Amino acid sequence: MPDSALPRTAAPHHHDLGTRLLHALLALHIIGLSALGLWMVDLSFYHPWYHRSLELHKAFGVLAGLVVTFKLVWRVLHPPLPPPATLGPWQARIARIVHGLLLLLAVALPVTGYLLSTSAGEPIALFGWMELPPLFGRSDAQGRLMGDLHTWAAWSLMGLVALHVGAALMHGFIKRDGTLRRMFW
Ligand code: HEM
Ligand code: HEM
Repeated sequence: MPDSALPRTAAPHHHDLGTRLLHALLALHIIGLSALGLWMVDLSFYHPWYHRSLELHKAFGVLAGLVVTFKLVWRVLHPPLPPPATLGPWQARIARIVHGLLLLLAVALPVTGYLLSTSAGEPIALFGWMELPPLFGRSDAQGRLMGDLHTWAAWSLMGLVALHVGAALMHGFIKRDGTLRRMFW
């Protein structure tokens, strides 16, 4: 049914454009950085992409930090739609918890990545345009702790994204209840 034909009190058919764009942008960053991260940590020191891949990972990782910050601000100003009516109360609760954890981990990764990368006391180069300075001086203990936290957060995020995408596809192609569509088109 076209939106114009809906009764005035009906819920809108789509998340607002800003929510949809920021969700897509964040999803692209998270999925791309996870794949790049897993690939780059297995490269040998002599691989032609050894340094470049890490440089790109850090620069896009910082960009992901900016995207998630915008997304959080946008979410406060424009809360997403309530859960679809096809979800029972406990399913809606789980969806809300998963969305919260996804956002929490999407913040934790840039933060731990930044503290890991600057634990040598060196700045982070951002696409050759500018540099992000370290907050603290060199600390090997900080580097080890943040490295562990970054890896742990990355694996937790990848697990939750798999769950989230599986649920979204199930709604889109099996239940066909409009939940997938209202976030993408
Ligand atoms: C949402 C953003 C990010 C995601 C999803 C992400 C994901 C990952 C993943 C999957 C790995 C491989 C983990 C492993 O198997 O050990 C990794 C490693 C790494 N990431 Fe990120 N990352 C993000 C942001 C950042 C940022 C902002 C920085 C630094 C500025 C950064 C620096 C690193 C470094 C230095 C490693 C190598 C760690 C090691 O060798 O143990 N990451 N990241
Ligand atoms: C291709 C991958 C993805 C698909 C197909 C997908 C699909 C969806 C769909 C259909 C919704 C709407 C649920 C509703 O209307 O009730 C949604 C919401 C949400 N998704 Fe994803 N998603 C993906 C990746 C991600 C990633 C990587 C993240 C973040 C780390 C994420 C975070 C969220 C959040 C926080 C919400 C709640 C609404 C909001 O705050 O925007 N999604 N997703």
